[in-house]
Amino acid sequence: MVLFDSHAHIDDRKFNDDQEAVIARAAERGVTGFINVGSDIASSARSVALAERYEAIYAAVGIHPHDAKDVQEADYDKLVSWAANPKVVAIGEIGLDYHYDYSPRDIQQAVFIRQLELARSVGKPIIIHDREAHGDLMGIVKTEGHGLSGVFHCFSGSVEMAKEVLKLGFYVSLAGPVTFNNSQKLKVVAREVPLDRLLVETDSPYLTPHPYRGKRNEPAFVRLVAEEVARLREIDLETLAMATTENVKRLFNI
Ligand code: NI
Repeated sequence: MVLFDSHAHIDDRKFNDDQEAVIARAAERGVTGFINVGSDIASSARSVALAERYEAIYAAVGIHPHDAKDVQEADYDKLVSWAANPKVVAIGEIGLDYHYDYSPRDIQQAVFIRQLELARSVGKPIIIHDREAHGDLMGIVKTEGHGLSGVFHCFSGSVEMAKEVLKLGFYVSLAGPVTFNNSQKLKVVAREVPLDRLLVETDSPYLTPHPYRGKRNEPAFVRLVAEEVARLREIDLETLAMATTENVKRLFNI
């Protein structure tokens, strides 16, 4: 089994006591690699450090919309210099979050657009966070995202939106919610996205898949996401695992 978790945050303090065991457990369960994703300068720095220390870990660096209001000009310089590191495979996670609105929406949009330009200048794909901001986010990607590739992480839109995402050349990544009984819309997305454009992820420590919902998530659980997607598509887990791993490697030049 060759699984790959396209999105995790094991630098989170919830892993302070057992981070090494979590990394070992992922490897034991067939998770051959994962991308540890930054959401601000501190977590981006931790992601780079993890990627330098462990062969199986890759890093993404970026400013999450929650933190857009605190961004300093020098932060962009840090992202650019980290991007020169070969283990830094993406700019992310970046995007819009209108659910929490921790940063004013105009600032979220400006910081997102700035990081699209940054990603283009360093030649890296992007990892997009989109929560309840589908319309504005798609508008910005269409007008400002030319020349970029990337993934909509923890995809939460409709099949129609997934088709738009695919048309723009982006990938769709599914996380724990696809395993929930009440996620019928996502189960349709899991069936419809072409196998060569699909990724799986955990978003650890969040979004723990069934049957561990409510507990801390970890990269080893990406198998539960992959099992559900394989079941929905009526293909075997091995095929799904191999395809999604190839997709991650193609998208992120791993
Ligand atoms: Ni995340």
